[in-house]
Amino acid sequence: ETWDMGGHDTYMHKEIHEQPEAVDRVLRGRIDDRFATVRLGGLGIDNREARAVRRVKIIGCGSAYHAGMIGAQLIEELARIPADAEPASEFRYRNPVVDPDTLYVAVSQSGETYDTLAAVQELKRKGARVLGVVNVVGSAIARETDGGVYVHAGPEVCVVSTKCFTNTAVAFALLALHLGRVRDLSVADGRRIIEGLRRLPEQLSEILKTEEDIRRIAAEFGTARSMMFVGRVRGYPVAREASLKLKEISYIHAEAYPASELKHGPLALIEPEVPSVAIVPNDELLEKNRATLEEIKARSGRILAVGHQDHPIADETIIVPRNEPELDPILLGVPLQLLAYHTALVMGRDIDKPRNLAKSVTVE
Ligand code: G6P
Repeated sequence: ETWDMGGHDTYMHKEIHEQPEAVDRVLRGRIDDRFATVRLGGLGIDNREARAVRRVKIIGCGSAYHAGMIGAQLIEELARIPADAEPASEFRYRNPVVDPDTLYVAVSQSGETYDTLAAVQELKRKGARVLGVVNVVGSAIARETDGGVYVHAGPEVCVVSTKCFTNTAVAFALLALHLGRVRDLSVADGRRIIEGLRRLPEQLSEILKTEEDIRRIAAEFGTARSMMFVGRVRGYPVAREASLKLKEISYIHAEAYPASELKHGPLALIEPEVPSVAIVPNDELLEKNRATLEEIKARSGRILAVGHQDHPIADETIIVPRNEPELDPILLGVPLQLLAYHTALVMGRDIDKPRNLAKSVTVE
C-alpha cells in the first residue's frame, strides 16, 4: 500500500497533522443548528427507538476500544444512558448476557478486526441491535451492523492509530449528542456542545503548532525505561491511549492507571527514573488531580502534566486549548501522540511498522 506522504517522513506524522481536516470531515453536513442536534443518516434507528435504549455497550480492540471508552463517557454524560466499553475479545469469550434494551456499538478503524466482527456476528445471531462506528466504508463490520456512524478519517496507513482515534471520539460525541437530544439534553446544552465541536479543528491546529516543544520534552522524558500515565474519569481513557501509543512505537514500557488507584499499588514504582504523564484538565476534578501531582512529587517522580494551565509542581506542562469539559478528552491526547512519535524517532524505531504488530488483526 502506498499513499502520498505529502512531504512527511512517516505516515504517522502525516496522519497526526491531518487531524484538523479529518475532524472537519466527520462533522461536515451533520450539524442541525435548528434543533441543536446532529443528523446521522446511517444510524438506522428512529427517535422513538433511540429513546427506548436502556444501556449502551461498546466493543472494540486496541485504540478503537480506548476511543469507545471516551464514547461511553460521552453517552453517559450527554444522554444519561448507562454506557461502558469492553475489549471485543473479552466480551465474546465471556458469554455476555445479550439484552434487547441494550444498544451495542462495535468500533473499528478497518472494520475487519476478527474479534470485533465475531462479537458482532454473535450479537446479531442473538437478535441484538448493533451499530458500527467504523472508518473503512463497506468493510465487514460496516456491512454486518444494522447501521452506524462513519468516522471519515480518510485512509490511515501507519499501523498505530492517530487521526482515526480522534475522529472516532468525535463520532461518539455526535452519537451522544443525538441520543441526548432525543432524551433530556437541553437545547442550550445541545448548542454548547455543537459550538465546542465546531472549535475542534482550529484547536487541533493550535496543538500541532506546539510540536517543537513536545520534541524537546520527548528528548528529556524519552530516555526512561518505564513510564506511568495517569488520569481520572475523562482523563483516564486519554492516559490509556497515550500509554498504548508509546508502547507500540517506542517499545518503552508504560502503564496507565486511574489516578485514584496509584495509592493502591503503582506508587511503589515511582522514582526519578520512572516519569509520570498526568492528564490534568481544568474540570471539576482539578483539585483531586493536583493532589495526585503532589503524591507523585513526594516520591521524587518526574512529572509531565497535560492540561489547561501551567502546573508549577510538574517538571513540564503541555497546555492544550480548553473546550467544553465533555469534549476535552478529544484534545488532551493529541500532544501525547506527538510525544510518542518524537520519542520513537529519537530511538530510531520503525514508526509506521512497529515490530510484532499489524494494522488489522483479521485472525483469531
Ligand atoms: C491492531 C492495531 C491497532 C488497532 C487494533 C484495532 O491491533 O495494531 O492499532 O487499534 O488492531 O483495529 P481496528 O481496525 O478494529 O480499529
